[in-house]
Amino acid sequence: MKRLHVITWGCQMNVYDSARMADVLAPLGYAPAQDPADADMVILNTCHIREKATEKVFSELGRLRHFKRARAAEGKRTILAVAGCVAQAEGAEILARAPYVDIVLGPQTYHRLPEMVAQASRAAGASLHTDFPPESKFDFLPDAAAPQTPGGITAFLSIQEGCDKFCSFCVVPYTRGAEASRPAAAIIAEANRLAANGAREITLLGQNVNAWHGEGPNGTPWPLARLLYALADIPDLARLRYTTSHPRDMSDDLIAAHGEIPALMPYLHLPVQTGSDRMLAAMNRRHTVADFHRTIEKLRTVRPDIALSSDFIVGHPGETAADFADTLRLVREIRFAQAYSFKYSPRPGTPAAGAGAQVLEPEKDRRLQELQAQLRDDTMAFNQSCVGVVADILITGPGRRPGQIGGRSPWLQPVHLPGPVSLAGQVVPVRLTEAHQNSLSGDLYQERACA
Ligand code: SAH
Ligand code: SF4
Ligand code: F3S
Repeated sequence: MKRLHVITWGCQMNVYDSARMADVLAPLGYAPAQDPADADMVILNTCHIREKATEKVFSELGRLRHFKRARAAEGKRTILAVAGCVAQAEGAEILARAPYVDIVLGPQTYHRLPEMVAQASRAAGASLHTDFPPESKFDFLPDAAAPQTPGGITAFLSIQEGCDKFCSFCVVPYTRGAEASRPAAAIIAEANRLAANGAREITLLGQNVNAWHGEGPNGTPWPLARLLYALADIPDLARLRYTTSHPRDMSDDLIAAHGEIPALMPYLHLPVQTGSDRMLAAMNRRHTVADFHRTIEKLRTVRPDIALSSDFIVGHPGETAADFADTLRLVREIRFAQAYSFKYSPRPGTPAAGAGAQVLEPEKDRRLQELQAQLRDDTMAFNQSCVGVVADILITGPGRRPGQIGGRSPWLQPVHLPGPVSLAGQVVPVRLTEAHQNSLSGDLYQERACA
C-alpha cells in the first residue's frame, strides 16, 4: 500500500482533475494520505490564472522538499509531481529551479501518470510531459469512481476542456489547449455512476461549458441544451448546474432549457469582465454590453427567479475612468446575486501583457475596492431578499456547529439549519430566516394543517 497526497489550487476543473489523477493511480496501490509528510507521492495541481502563480508554486515546493528530505533520511522515497496550468506553462523553469521535482505534467497528460510514476520509480531524474497528446485523456482515464466533494452529495463532471477564444488577458488557451468536447454517451454514463454513488447534484464543468458540442448517440453533435434534457432524466439526480459559460455561447435553446428543465437550478455564472464596449473589444470578448443585457433579459423572462453571477476584471490595459464607470453602471443595472472581481494581472505570453497603457497599481486597487463594495452590497441585498422564503434545500451533510446541518439553496447559497444529519442527500423545504454575506440560516419547514 502506497500513499498519495494531492494539493489542489485553481478552478473546479482542477478539483475534478485531482480526483481523476487519484483514480488513475489507485490501481497502482496508491490510497489517499491526509498529510504530505507521510505520502509516498505528492501531486501539486497548480493554477496560472493570476499574479504570482509561479512564485506560489516555488514556495510550496520548498515546503514539500523538506518532507521529501526528512523521508529520505528514513530511507523512504517520495515522488513529487507538479501538475496543472503552471506545470504546462512553466514546466522547464520548474525543472531548472526545483530539480528535486520528479514529474512535471500538463493537464492533458493525466492518463499517462502510471507510466510516468513507473519511470520515476525506476530512475532518478525528472521528466517533463507538456506536449498536447493526440488522444483525449478522458478516453484513457478509468471511470470516475465517486463524487469529489466530502460527503459526495454534490459532484463535478468535466464535459469540455480547453478554449479557442483567446481573450486578450487569459492564459487558459495556452495551458489547457484547444477546445474539445467529450461525447454525450460518456458524460451520461459518468453522471449515472455519480448518481449511483450518492450524488444528487451535478455541476457540469468546462472552461467554456456552453460551447460544448459533443457527439450525440447518433453521431451528430449535440448542443448543451440537449445534454441537459438527457441528464435531467436520470431518476436519482435532483439537480443540475453548469459552469463556466461565455456570454457569446448563451444560445436561445440553452436559455429556453432554463425555463423547461426543473432540475436545472435557477443560477447562472456568466462572466462579463467589464461594462464598457471599448474594453470588451480590447479584451476580444466578441460581444457588446447591449448583447449581454439582451441575454440577461431573455434568461429572466424564462426563469424569473434566476440568480446571476459574474466575473470582472478592473484595470485591463487601456481602461479609463469612463470605462470603469460603465462597469459600475452595468453592475447597478443587473444586480448580480454573486460576483468575483479581480485586478488585471499580466500573464506571460498573452496579448494584453505586452500592450501599452497599463493601468497603475494604485488605480487598479481603488477601482477594485469600489467595485467590490457595490458587488458585496448586491449580494447581501439578494441574500436578504430570501429571508421569509420557503425554499428547497439540498442537505449536503453536517453543519458548522453540533446539531446543525448544511445544505445548498437553488441559488447556490450555503444554508445552515438545525436538523439531523440523516437528512443528507434529501431536498427538504426550509424557511430561510437570516441572511449573512455568504450564507443563509433557516429552519426545517413543516406544513401544518389545523386539526
Ligand atoms: N472562461 C471563462 C473564464 C475563465 S477564467 C470566461 O471566459 O468567462 C476565470 C476568471 O478569471 C475570468 O472570468 C476573469 O475574470 C479572471 N481572469 C482571467 N485572466 C485574468 C487576468 N489575467 N487577470 C485578472 N483576472 C483574470
Ligand atoms: Fe480565458 Fe476567454 Fe477562454 Fe474564458 S473564454 S477561458 S477568459 S480565453
Ligand atoms: Fe487556473 Fe488553469 Fe483553472 S489557470 S483557473 S487551473 S484552467
